[in-house]
Amino acid sequence: MYLSQLRLLCFRIYQEASLELLPGVNLVLGQNGQGKTSLLEAISTLALTRSPRSGSLGECASWGEPRMGVAAHLVSRLGETDLELRAERQESSERWVRKLRQGGDLIQPRRLLGRFRVVLFWPEDLLLVKGGPEPRRRLLDVVLSQLSPRYAEAAIRYRRALEHRTALLRRVRDGLATPAELGPWTEALVEHGTIVIQERRRYLATVQPVAAEAITKIGEPSELQLQYRPGLGRSQELDEGADPADALWRALARTRAEEIARAQCVVGPHRDDFEVLLGGRPARQFASQGQQRSVVLALKVAEVRQHLSLGGETPLLLLDDVLSELDQERRTGLIQLLSEELAVEQTLITSTEDPQIGGEVAVSQVLQARGGRLTRMAQPGWELAEWKA
Ligand SMILES: Nc1ncnc2c1ncn2[C@@H]1O[C@H](COP(=O)(O)OP(=O)(O)OP(=O)(O)O)[C@@H](O)[C@H]1O
Ligand SMILES: [Mg+2]
Repeated sequence: MYLSQLRLLCFRIYQEASLELLPGVNLVLGQNGQGKTSLLEAISTLALTRSPRSGSLGECASWGEPRMGVAAHLVSRLGETDLELRAERQESSERWVRKLRQGGDLIQPRRLLGRFRVVLFWPEDLLLVKGGPEPRRRLLDVVLSQLSPRYAEAAIRYRRALEHRTALLRRVRDGLATPAELGPWTEALVEHGTIVIQERRRYLATVQPVAAEAITKIGEPSELQLQYRPGLGRSQELDEGADPADALWRALARTRAEEIARAQCVVGPHRDDFEVLLGGRPARQFASQGQQRSVVLALKVAEVRQHLSLGGETPLLLLDDVLSELDQERRTGLIQLLSEELAVEQTLITSTEDPQIGGEVAVSQVLQARGGRLTRMAQPGWELAEWKA
């Protein structure tokens, strides 16, 4: 799949921008702070129906603006369609309300998830290896929300149950409600949490060999392993055949007193994590800079492969400022792997300077980002590739 048109309205630095995108590699050059990441964020926000960078859509609106929007024309095997995400701040409540449209008709967010898919790789992804559990959980959420409608639905319901249950735990702690009242929310937490755990466990088991193969291709000889660590407190191990519902019930029962004392749900998939092992050792502690980068790239390659094997459509690939850190050989090798072997139809690559990939990789167009404006560059040396529809 690929986008042929993109329009932005009050999205961060972009007051109003409209641009044509081409199949193949779209290179976006610009100095620091000129809107490169914001452009990729806008595309991801449309695909994910929320920003991969901030919790609230309101943060994506240009400063002081009560609304924002991203619209695109999508070309895929299922046909062509217009997609639009708009959000407005309610005057009465200050809440941001989003509306999604496909072909002009209002649709539920979950109907859009999976219709338009992206794989994003940006500098923050390096935290996947060295950072706390948060970026690893976010990776699982972003991937699985797009790949599995069952997951997308369960994750939304789980979050809602978690919020209600946390509010109720506060009331129980303050003597305003009884522990028995937690019952229905505990049941909801287990019901939806079980699906979240099942899907995460399955995803990690499936991508593990794929990521391991990818890292070898990138040139890293150590064996890569991914081990799921469900947020079940002491008994973090969840044996392969074990029933997650059962494990979650037991963990909740065990931690009831602590939950009430802290007014917090202390176990559940919101505490999940996974361990990355390289050559049998925790990558978090031992991986070098280059190895961390290779791990993240391998995870992204596995993500693209997973999209391909489930549904056959290739996601849009968004590479934010990640090429500059790779040597020339790995840089072109990566893009070739992605565009040839994985048949990614469209890639957006941002960089502060010419990443010198033109020799081996056909670049369809070069755009310049400057102060919230995007213009096509007619730069000598850049050959315009044929349209590969
Ligand atoms: N909500 C917002 N409204 C208006 N401008 C914003 C908003 N959020 C961020 N900005 C500004 O947008 C500008 C562009 O940010 P962006 O992250 O897209 O830059 P970039 O081109 O990726 O830069 P770098 O090369 O440093 O990564 C920054 O100057 C930032 O301060
Ligand atoms: Mg940036």
